[in-house]
Amino acid sequence: MDFKEIKNNETGRNIVVSIKDLNVYYGDFHAVDNVNLDLEKHKVTALIGPSGCGKSTVLRSINRMNELLADTRVEGEIQFDGININSPKVDSVSVRRRIGMVFQKPNPFPKSIYENIAWGAKINGYKGHMDDLVEDSLQKAALWNEVKDKLKQSALRLSGGQQQRLCIARTIAVEPEVILMDEPASALDPIATGRIEELIDELKQNYTIAIVTHNMQQAGRISDYTAFFLVNDELRGHLIEYGETDDVFLKPKDKRTEEYISGKFG
Ligand SMILES: Nc1ncnc2c1ncn2[C@@H]1O[C@H](COP(=O)(O)OP(=O)(O)OP(=O)(O)O)[C@@H](O)[C@H]1O
Ligand SMILES: [Mg+2]
Repeated sequence: MDFKEIKNNETGRNIVVSIKDLNVYYGDFHAVDNVNLDLEKHKVTALIGPSGCGKSTVLRSINRMNELLADTRVEGEIQFDGININSPKVDSVSVRRRIGMVFQKPNPFPKSIYENIAWGAKINGYKGHMDDLVEDSLQKAALWNEVKDKLKQSALRLSGGQQQRLCIARTIAVEPEVILMDEPASALDPIATGRIEELIDELKQNYTIAIVTHNMQQAGRISDYTAFFLVNDELRGHLIEYGETDDVFLKPKDKRTEEYISGKFG
């Protein structure tokens, strides 16, 4: 594939998504204030910070989901594969196919396990062998062994952790390049959470991932880069610190980062 990565000349990093001067407004409320952030290819970037600091808003901006909400305004550039996805010329549906999203609450369609995977692929004009795609996607999402004998069963009868892996399988079935995850394990028990974390670790071999999490141990375990957000006095969310996870966790530059990570507030 002729994929245009952005080579950062200073660091040599391969950047897949580059967010420049992002501002997001909900009506008159300025929710996200001038955020600049990069997602490096085949790495996991964690977005952390207290409730209301704009993590979900930033994440939704990366695949133009905010514009589905009434009365939002997004300013700034999001460079992806040589285009600014915020440009009016760009088709938001194709952006969302290439930059997929997994939500906090698993949201399978009220259809069979099989149809949950096949539906999006059909809509996208998938021409290959559907049974193979369904199996392959479920394998990659580490769910195949648990569901291979009940593919016709309603997805709603799966456990929460299985539903979340199904949603991940559904997302990867359309072959995105980037996967955005908004607290994908926060509704799950520790075992299901562990499985999602292992899965993220495997998926990053092939995908660029951004994940919002409130779980500091999880961010420390699974991410390569961490972005820490806070609100300022006007309640606008902004980026306080961004860097390699080890640096942000072990030698943060900003005192507020250290306080948050060590559990002193938030
Ligand atoms: N659809 C919306 N309409 C109006 N305001 C919104 C909307 N969504 C979010 N906001 C506001 O924007 C700010 C950022 O919200 P956002 O959901 O991005 O925060 P967050 O960091 O994801 O928080 P949490 O950790 O609680 O999920 C908050 O003040 C929130 O109230
Ligand atoms: Mg959120």
